[in-house]
Amino acid sequence: MKVTIIGLGYVGITTATGLAEIGHEVKGYDIDEDKIIKLKDGKSPIYEPGLDELLLKNLKTGKLVFTSSKQEAIEHGDIIFICTGTPSRIDGSADLSQVEDAAKTVAKHINNFKLIVEKSTVPVKTAQWIERTMRLHLKRPIDFEVASNPEFLKEGEAIRDFFKPDRIVIGVKSKRAERLLRELYKPIKAPLVVTDINTAEIIKHASNAFLATKISFINMISDLCEMAGADVDLVAKAMGMDKRIGKRFLKAGIGYGGSCFPKDVKALYFVGKQYGLDFKLLKDVQEINESRIDTLMKHLKKALWNLKDKHIAIWGLSFKPNTDDIREAPSIKVIKRILDEKGRLTLYDPVAMHNMQRIYPENMFLHYAKDMYQSVKDKEALLILTEWDIFKNADLEKVRSLMQTPIIVDGRNIYNPKKVKKLGFEYYPMGKMS
Ligand SMILES: NC(=O)c1ccc[n+]([C@@H]2O[C@H](COP(=O)([O-])OP(=O)(O)OC[C@H]3O[C@@H](n4cnc5c(N)ncnc54)[C@H](O)[C@@H]3O)[C@@H](O)[C@H]2O)c1
Repeated sequence: MKVTIIGLGYVGITTATGLAEIGHEVKGYDIDEDKIIKLKDGKSPIYEPGLDELLLKNLKTGKLVFTSSKQEAIEHGDIIFICTGTPSRIDGSADLSQVEDAAKTVAKHINNFKLIVEKSTVPVKTAQWIERTMRLHLKRPIDFEVASNPEFLKEGEAIRDFFKPDRIVIGVKSKRAERLLRELYKPIKAPLVVTDINTAEIIKHASNAFLATKISFINMISDLCEMAGADVDLVAKAMGMDKRIGKRFLKAGIGYGGSCFPKDVKALYFVGKQYGLDFKLLKDVQEINESRIDTLMKHLKKALWNLKDKHIAIWGLSFKPNTDDIREAPSIKVIKRILDEKGRLTLYDPVAMHNMQRIYPENMFLHYAKDMYQSVKDKEALLILTEWDIFKNADLEKVRSLMQTPIIVDGRNIYNPKKVKKLGFEYYPMGKMS
């Protein structure tokens, strides 16, 4: 099938590459011309395990093509996916201007029937706005339809999630749209949930808000464990063994971040408000998440007393492992808090340092290290903010020998407290006795 992707970020590039790999003829368009130049050259602007190889392979076969021509892009696809960003506005609502702009682009260049599919995460009833925008901007009467196909991929596992999703949700209002989307996803073996459009839109927001709620829940249990002298990891493990609860998203730590959970929780709260529904639980979920940084800072101060002129290494900048995405990463807030108290920082992350350098360029208080061991040399504490495997498997004896004072403040509970202490460290995990 002929498919066009509008917006080539984490979702758009993955979708474009995945659809080409299962045999479709895909054209990707983005307003960012630098991105198109890179992509044409086979260079992915994002880090995503497994993506580079698939991108190159499908560029070579010609199944995947990138263009900065709106007309070429829109005329190509019978199915057009909108994968543009939907960031938060100051009031918490979703900023849908990129989606509107994409709809206008389609309306301007549409040449025959198109199924326009919103893949971006959007508030319920956005499809109606896309349809209205299309009608207002159409140059001549041409048939089209709007459908919803929310994306559930996880950064760091996006390629796997494309080929093996837990489910594919499609929100449609006609058999024709359903047939087209069934045909498109035929090679993917996953349960297909077909709903009306409003339901599909709510499924995505509800899923993300629920996962964020799980994280905030376990983080409150984490605080209770710390106060009462219990171990949150064991509590979570035993809770998760109950199939009704499930073990995922029960990891206590410094909270959720990224480009999705924070904005989607806020957006769903706002949607509720618009309908007169006070979804209080979501307010608490956000507040608990924000308070995680205070808890981490409390641990750091318990370990170091004053932060002024203390040399601290940070391992992990991305909001989670296996991605270079630092949008809403807890590390951004932690760095600011330490710099505000005149601490001195050396940062290390396997792939996200170039992104962080745009927010915090090097200066006399803040350095970036070339490798994880160099980062801890002569430091008074090591702060762990992302649970990358290389940190889990670090040679801690070497770390101990390099540091000035052997202190680890672990925001992600990646080590066994007994083992770390045996190596001579003072260890400050989350939600358990240090
Ligand atoms: N990143 C994730 O893990 C993830 C997962 C599921 C769903 N989503 C949702 O998918 C959507 C996209 O997320 P993302 O992380 O890929 O965003 P992103 O910011 O990485 O990418 C958005 C892209 O759209 C482009 N763009 C903006 N306006 C455009 C326009 N008018 N025409 C063409 N291109 C335009 C931007 O240049 C950018 O490349 C969001 O709604 C997000 O909530 C994201």
